[in-house]
Amino acid sequence: MVSVEDLNVIFGKKHIVHDVSFSVKKGEIIGMFGISGAGKTTVIRVLTCQIEKKNWNGTVSVTGLDPSKKANHSKILSNIGYVPQLELLNLYFELTPMVNVEVFTSTYGMDKKEAKKTAEKLFKILDIPKDTWKKRVKKMSGGEKKRLSMAIGLIHSPDVLFLDEPTTGVDASRRYDVLSYLKKLNQQLNTTMFIITHDLEAALICDKTAILREGRLLEFDTPQNLISSLPSNGLVARISIENLNQKIINVIQGYPSIKKVLRVGNETIEVLMDQFDENLPKFMKFLFEKEYKVISMSRDIANFRRYFQIRIQEEETKEKVQTQIELINNGGPQYQN
Ligand SMILES: Nc1ncnc2c1ncn2[C@@H]1O[C@H](COP(=O)(O)OP(=O)(O)O)[C@@H](O)[C@H]1O
Ligand SMILES: [Mg+2]
Repeated sequence: MVSVEDLNVIFGKKHIVHDVSFSVKKGEIIGMFGISGAGKTTVIRVLTCQIEKKNWNGTVSVTGLDPSKKANHSKILSNIGYVPQLELLNLYFELTPMVNVEVFTSTYGMDKKEAKKTAEKLFKILDIPKDTWKKRVKKMSGGEKKRLSMAIGLIHSPDVLFLDEPTTGVDASRRYDVLSYLKKLNQQLNTTMFIITHDLEAALICDKTAILREGRLLEFDTPQNLISSLPSNGLVARISIENLNQKIINVIQGYPSIKKVLRVGNETIEVLMDQFDENLPKFMKFLFEKEYKVISMSRDIANFRRYFQIRIQEEETKEKVQTQIELINNGGPQYQN
């Protein structure tokens, strides 16, 4: 459905996306994760024909068509749906949801009756309350607007739906609803979805996850495979220690089987280790011998959020080491008089 090989995006002197490659199969939900400024929206804008060819290079195919060719744009746009970031929603706020549907579907040349029927079906799946259908869009809540935008993105039964930050601006309590609507749409309509988000919970509905950092793709795999690539397949021990401080964390980090230590609360850490079952009792014994006041210990399996934090932390450490090496090679820090 979508394939990207060695995508680079450059605006003037700013190299925003570096050698990104991935592919999306029919019916899959792909999540692209990364902190703000990582380049996620830029990637989606290339795929949805919004960035001029002079600013990017690479081999890209969207529903079998090359977006670098202007002649393909209208065909690509009729094959895909696009739901932009909340602040950029392409809705007419002074019109009603149904009239918005009419405006968008007329540009696709869809039959008016057919469009209304499809809209009603989508509004129902997406839980857009019936009493809002005939009121102006500006009266709808943020979440309702976002879901209306999703419905419009899907109205022409696109092969691929691109969603930019679908849960941003939606009440925390409704975030899971939005995600389950997307999963439901994916299952009922078999629509391929490409979701970009910094909401790590969204990984719950994704078949594959991509992690983007500073314009580079760090990982692309199923969330399960990524988690299993952690030491002991991602088993973690969550330990609370009274008066936890950096000194204690440093001692723990130095313990032989410990691979990763994450501070997840004021007095709580999560640790990953090799040969978890064998080493956990030994490690706990070590903590008691050190006379640290262990309040509690529980075991769990890392979720995608933890995986993401660990992976990003790893990258930051690598960068720090690299900077130190460069400083040493350059004869130490340079000072100006
Ligand atoms: N048209 C543009 N010209 C120059 N810089 C841009 C342009 N579009 C995006 N950028 C820059 O690219 C970086 C990545 O932006 P974006 O793709 O929006 O990130 P994300 O969606 O991951 O938050 C940012 O530093 C942003 O300022
Ligand atoms: Mg963005």
